[in-house]
Amino acid sequence: MTAPYVESDIREIAATLGEEAKAFSRSTILLCGGAGFLGRYFTALFAHLNAHVLKHPCRVIVCDNLITSGRAGAKAPRLDGFRFLTHDIIKPLKITERIDYVIQAAGIASPYYYRKYPLETLEVATLGTKRVLELGVRHPLKGFLFFSSSEIYGDPDPRHVPTPESYRGNISCLGPRACYDESKRLGETLCAIFHELHGVPTRMVRPFNVYGPGMQETDYRVLPNFASRIIAGKPVQVYGSGKQTRTFCYVTDAITGFIKVLLRGSPGQAYNIGNPVPELSMLELARVLERVAGRKLDVRVVEYPDTYPADEPQRRCPDIAKAARQLGYKPAVSLEEGLKRFMAWASAVYTGTQF
Ligand SMILES: NC(=O)c1ccc[n+]([C@@H]2O[C@H](COP(=O)([O-])OP(=O)(O)OC[C@H]3O[C@@H](n4cnc5c(N)ncnc54)[C@H](O)[C@@H]3O)[C@@H](O)[C@H]2O)c1
Repeated sequence: MTAPYVESDIREIAATLGEEAKAFSRSTILLCGGAGFLGRYFTALFAHLNAHVLKHPCRVIVCDNLITSGRAGAKAPRLDGFRFLTHDIIKPLKITERIDYVIQAAGIASPYYYRKYPLETLEVATLGTKRVLELGVRHPLKGFLFFSSSEIYGDPDPRHVPTPESYRGNISCLGPRACYDESKRLGETLCAIFHELHGVPTRMVRPFNVYGPGMQETDYRVLPNFASRIIAGKPVQVYGSGKQTRTFCYVTDAITGFIKVLLRGSPGQAYNIGNPVPELSMLELARVLERVAGRKLDVRVVEYPDTYPADEPQRRCPDIAKAARQLGYKPAVSLEEGLKRFMAWASAVYTGTQF
């Protein structure tokens, strides 16, 4: 089976982090949601650091209940210093050894799945995050990273696009996306409170559409959908008007940013992590994929399927000045380059039979 990541991407992340990565020497990391798309990249990165960078290896406890991790996540790799637990983080997790870092990436990330599992979506971001934060009260952590989302901004007022961290959002607490948006907001509130009350060094990231090798074909986010249909030779389906915009951040740039926030972000604070250029509509995204594929694609605008939650934000683009200024964060992979890497991987892995 082809790996759910690309080895050269992992080397690139380690090279970009350079000396910073040495902070993980001799440390123990709890990685929640470790069987998911981003979790598998973190796993591969820590395995690479142990093999090639760290004098004293780190130990990693990977924890996931496998609710959306699919085939790629179900099979835990055999790696020295890694322990894989099938565990729902909503339930108490007993860890007797010392922990230095917590990465709380467990969540239900795709709109298709949060429509299917609304309560699980809400609970993992709130009760689940609280359970893991409680570990931070007992263990003197060096860093706690919570995966929030750019969705916490809802459908931003165009005057606030690109959107800075200070924008408070435009969200309905009763809308079909509320189980995700609102629970991520509450997850951030919990992180701020645990920092204030107990001194837990919490940091939050708000990722903006991260993509790359390892995304499951049945992830139902836009790029796996498009890729699966292109590989099958079927028309590419753009939902709604096709004018809604997004920006896309290749996974190497995103993981580099997440690690920088974990190690050096200001405690109790949130950081946008994404690539602000280009902000493009879904119809324009299909045209970029046409250039990457090197052939004309049949692109059709269709109605939203019933399985997709309504009220999708019209624009989404990060202002990353805070992470750039404080942490030296600078995405380096262009959209075309990232899509080339993603499509090369997907062509070897996707079956084209899912949609
Ligand atoms: N990838 C992105 O563009 C993006 C954007 C914004 C936010 N995020 C957030 O980043 C995190 C990781 O995203 P991803 O793209 O890797 O998603 P993913 O769905 O691939 O991975 C999430 C993992 O969390 C696990 N999980 C869910 N509920 C759990 C529970 N109760 N206990 C233990 N494990 C549980 C799932 O089984 C899955 O393996 C998520 O919290 C997501 O909301 C991601």
